[in-house]
Amino acid sequence: MPPSRVPRPRRYLVCEPRYFDVKYAINPWMSGNTEVDLGLARSQWAALTDTYQALGHKVESVEPHAELPDMVFAANSALVLDGKVFGSRFHALQRRPEEEVYAAWFKVAGFDVRRPEAVVEGEGDLVPVGGHILAGTGFRTTVEAHREVHEFFGVPVIGLQLVDPYFYHLDTALFVLEDGHDGQEANIAYYPEAFSPDSLAVLRRLFPQALIATRDDAMAFGLNSVSDGRHVLVAPQAHALVEQLAAHGYEPVPVDMSEFHKAGGGIKCCTQEIRA
Ligand code: ARG
Repeated sequence: MPPSRVPRPRRYLVCEPRYFDVKYAINPWMSGNTEVDLGLARSQWAALTDTYQALGHKVESVEPHAELPDMVFAANSALVLDGKVFGSRFHALQRRPEEEVYAAWFKVAGFDVRRPEAVVEGEGDLVPVGGHILAGTGFRTTVEAHREVHEFFGVPVIGLQLVDPYFYHLDTALFVLEDGHDGQEANIAYYPEAFSPDSLAVLRRLFPQALIATRDDAMAFGLNSVSDGRHVLVAPQAHALVEQLAAHGYEPVPVDMSEFHKAGGGIKCCTQEIRA
């Protein structure tokens, strides 16, 4: 019998995809299939936020900007931990105007925002779990930023080298099943081949119980999932992972974000967690 999992209510920040589009290519998913069905994108996104609310989570939103087609990917705009906000500095010039818009939202919401010096893309590459912050690098967030994150939060930062351009953000290759907050054992799911051999060895040592995903799961954005400790909002296309989650006592909640995959994002990319 798998253990029975206990959900914890969360606070999420999202951005409506009113102006979502693929207008430039800053990751391999964006080259080629650039035709976005905006009506479908909007209904997929509405299903995501409805699902959060139905599960008892609090959802807040930031007003989208017409010139910022990637602004829907709220996870990239900051890391919020213990009520402290570490803002972002985007790698791509096209996304830099998002920094100010999100920082302004956080200020109005009552948070001070640390504006970083080095390139860093929020929860896209920074993943708090089990008293650590896992920090991706290789395509976007820099090692210099990892140092800034460590200094700002005073939490051990574990650098992880990403090696596959399809998995350019840490949150496309790994997600947190259980963050370890309530004395539960922290755990994650990940796709091993997205990491350098040394980084993979670190993950194996830290998370011996991790769920291991296949390349098909990862290419279906199965690792771009959001868990509340029990319910896991997951891409229905990640068939093997969905089965594995259920076998481990989680409740998979399929949410199809296929229109967003065209921009290189999925469920988690659209979801910033405010840990206040
Ligand atoms: N088009 C966006 C970019 O390349 C997608 C971001 C997806 N977000 C994520 N957390 N992986 O920056």
